[in-house]
Amino acid sequence: MVKYWGKDNVVWQDKMVEIDFPHVIHAQQFSLDDLEKLFMLTAILKQQIGKGKKKDWLNGNIVLNLIYEPSTRTMTSFSVAGLRLGADVITPADPAKLSSVIKGETLEDSIRIYADKVDVIILRHKDDDSALRASRSRFCQGVPIINAGAGKGQHPTQSLLDYFTIRERFGRIEGLIVAICGDLKHGRTSRSLAYLLSKYKGVEIYFVAPQVAQMSPDVLDYLTSHNVKWHQSETLKEVISFVDVCYMTRFQTEREDPEEKEIMAHASMVNVIDEQLAESMKDDAIIMHPLPRIHEIKWGVDKNKRSVYFLQALNGDYIRMALLLCILNPDKVEKLLASAA
Ligand code: CP
Repeated sequence: MVKYWGKDNVVWQDKMVEIDFPHVIHAQQFSLDDLEKLFMLTAILKQQIGKGKKKDWLNGNIVLNLIYEPSTRTMTSFSVAGLRLGADVITPADPAKLSSVIKGETLEDSIRIYADKVDVIILRHKDDDSALRASRSRFCQGVPIINAGAGKGQHPTQSLLDYFTIRERFGRIEGLIVAICGDLKHGRTSRSLAYLLSKYKGVEIYFVAPQVAQMSPDVLDYLTSHNVKWHQSETLKEVISFVDVCYMTRFQTEREDPEEKEIMAHASMVNVIDEQLAESMKDDAIIMHPLPRIHEIKWGVDKNKRSVYFLQALNGDYIRMALLLCILNPDKVEKLLASAA
């Protein structure tokens, strides 16, 4: 197995452990060089592959979509990515209820069984450290684990498609002003995006949320230690006129403690983008959302030229094709990149 990404160290269970990639565990693991390659490769795949088109570049590989939490986009996106590249894809139905987890099997034991059968495991799970746990070598036996959303922790492939969408629109990430708005306390997409943006010079991040839903100190400390300018605002109205990117997120009601439900319900109504607010943005600004949207972007905003959230979701197919190809057929990646150079 080729190790496409570099190595990285993370704190896990109070110890520093080395992640031995090709796993995709968190957004910090990607170097600027990795991101550049992923952008180029994704752009090539977006040109070459679409509805009705299929390649044989992953023939013979089996992709396991192991999705323990609900998903519309990520699950189908990984399926489409695998299928369009010629892999076979297995998506067990509702493994949280229908696998032997319900009888008490641990995630580690399940992964050990699946790893004997497939070539890559896409994992969405309620535990923040699920992908990291699964990737420890004795559990996955070297089979790559891709984190497709881990509890309140991270959703790195979402941040990669966010990155692709921003870069596709602006041609750069450096120097952009980005508002990340919504339930920053429980949202994994906001966390992964902040980590990814921190790699680029001159990026400025505004975390927009009532205090009860603000970004956690671990991310803020990381940004400070990486010299990223960040600010906190309660309302979008304070920042909407000057940001380049307004990244909305929903309130994660399924992750709230019972005692915070009422206060979070109030907080979720504070920042809603309507047609008027959207129109007050810079002419070339964009409105993003990982989706699903609940009420934080009014439906009328969809027709605003700044709204890119459905394009963002579509880009997910291509970034995931790029990831699977990097992991399972790196020789093809080098050929595609060379032919486009
Ligand atoms: N953005 C995202 O992760 O969507 P799903 O939960 O539908 O996969």
